[in-house]
Amino acid sequence: MHIDPLEKKWMYVVGVMTVIMIGSMTYAAVVMNMHPPSNVETIDPKTLHLSGEFTEDNLGVSENPDGSLTVRMIAARYSFYPQMIEVPADTPVTFRITSPDIVHGVHVPFTNMSTMVIPGYVSEVTTRFSREGEAQFLCNEYCGLGHDYMWSKLKVVPKG
Ligand code: CUA
Repeated sequence: MHIDPLEKKWMYVVGVMTVIMIGSMTYAAVVMNMHPPSNVETIDPKTLHLSGEFTEDNLGVSENPDGSLTVRMIAARYSFYPQMIEVPADTPVTFRITSPDIVHGVHVPFTNMSTMVIPGYVSEVTTRFSREGEAQFLCNEYCGLGHDYMWSKLKVVPKG
């Protein structure tokens, strides 16, 4: 079978690009510990505030019997509630976040904490923060005119 030399060259280019893309995805997953959220859990966005896990009293940080933490948050136009979360460094933290209105994202720069927040679903991310100090939760899905101002504080304090 005859293959034109130019075509052959492009086949190599495509091959190299494929290897680079699969390689960088594997690197991100294995070395940087970045994974798509796998939690599929539904919730009624219209009644979040009335009863259950995401009422105002239940939001924020709670400690589990094994010493890990669960943080419940609401992402709504245009902030995250509660607006300030304080967690100790090097402690497993499971975030449970949902939205009562539209799609938002939550991202803490320079960490692997990043997920979409979709109304009707509970997004769950388990991570730990090794760097102490202040950081921000930023919305990274365009959600309207206030998107640029949608952020809240994360404070990572020394353990113990
Ligand atoms: Cu919420 Cu952008």
